Amino acid sequence: MKPMAGVYLRTILNCMAVALVASLLLYGCAGDERSGKGKKLYNHYCSHCHGESGQQGEGFNWDRMPDPRPKNLASNAEMSTFSDKEIFDTVYRDMRDTSDPKVLDDDNYFAVATMPTFKYTLSEEEIWDIVGHVRTLHGMSLTYDLLGRKKELEEAFQLAQQEMEAAKATYEAATEKAEAAQAAYEETLTDEQLDNYEPEDIELPEEAVFLAVNEKYENAKTALENFSKRPKKTRIARPDLTISEDDRVEQAKLGEHLYTAKYGCNGCHSLNDIGGLVGPALDRAGFRLNSTWVYQWVRNPQAMKKHTRMPNLGASDADARALTYYLDTLRAPIPEKPVPEPA
Ligand code: HEC
Ligand code: HEC
Repeated sequence: MKPMAGVYLRTILNCMAVALVASLLLYGCAGDERSGKGKKLYNHYCSHCHGESGQQGEGFNWDRMPDPRPKNLASNAEMSTFSDKEIFDTVYRDMRDTSDPKVLDDDNYFAVATMPTFKYTLSEEEIWDIVGHVRTLHGMSLTYDLLGRKKELEEAFQLAQQEMEAAKATYEAATEKAEAAQAAYEETLTDEQLDNYEPEDIELPEEAVFLAVNEKYENAKTALENFSKRPKKTRIARPDLTISEDDRVEQAKLGEHLYTAKYGCNGCHSLNDIGGLVGPALDRAGFRLNSTWVYQWVRNPQAMKKHTRMPNLGASDADARALTYYLDTLRAPIPEKPVPEPA
């Protein structure tokens, strides 16, 4: 029996070795696939400003970017001081008005308007893939616990769902009770009184609680969905842009401010030959482009052109309106053709 046991043991050990190698390979392949995706996304959405290798001066937009210019992403000395999460937060954030001292003083916020956010364009997982690729540019690799993050989002969603369901049940029970009380009261009225009777709207504190908890639930749901899927690409409805002349002037002024201070549109677009080259010059936007279209484009470019390099910057309805009124004022005359040199 002894040699047989040895054979068994060896077979088991061999199998274990094979399984180990296979799982390592599988893990390695998944890692490769991830970094391949990260590289592709980086080259499409980041390289024009940061350079394919991360070097300063390399991207075609480098010379045209307003200050401050990006750090050298290929420098281990400069980049190793950033944690994975800090790099992620730079790419995945809400645009805020960088002329606001509160925003500038917030140590947890990357207050550079010309570094666009990709929070509303890519999935969270895709951005982690990009961060993984950025890490390789300066000889490091991602150590962030991605599976742990997904679990955290799932748990937050489940908790928010339980809370929402409990608040909904409480609200429904309170509504039923209030309706029963009203019906009982109506029973006490004479026919004549009933003819003149206007039931009061029932306002319940439970409703406000439910709405607040429900919003938390919707947010947790979106966060979980956006982990592996890109934010929704539904085309924005046509806005009603009618406005008084005075308001239009005010709005355009606000839009001009937001254009540089909050959304850094000038990092990618030029006016009077100053500003980025990633998108077309906007000097004549007011002549060339229809305002309804501009509004829809600014709020969700991917809904109109899936792979455009212009990210959805998460502009609110109000901000997109102001930007639209501003762009409508951009009506530079056609540049005069230079007089050809005599031959
Ligand atoms: C329109 C140009 C532009 C695009 C596109 C862009 N960035 Fe940036 N990025 C900047 C600017 C400007 C800064 C700020 C430089 C500063 O103040 O240090 C910056 C900063 C950063 C930083 C912090 C390091 C630093 O330089 O301060 C990281 C990391 C980064 N970007 C990653 C990305 C990634 C990843 C993408 C693509 C998903 C991307 N960027 C797309 C312009 C851009
Ligand atoms: C990261 C670069 C980037 C940023 C930031 C950016 N854009 Fe763009 N934008 C583009 C690109 C690229 C296009 C060209 C669209 C295409 O065909 O893919 C474009 C197109 C446009 C167009 C259509 C222009 C035309 O002539 O067809 C408008 C209008 C526009 N952007 C407005 C804005 C505004 C307003 C902002 C700021 C809120 C902004 N963009 C921020 C890159 C950018």
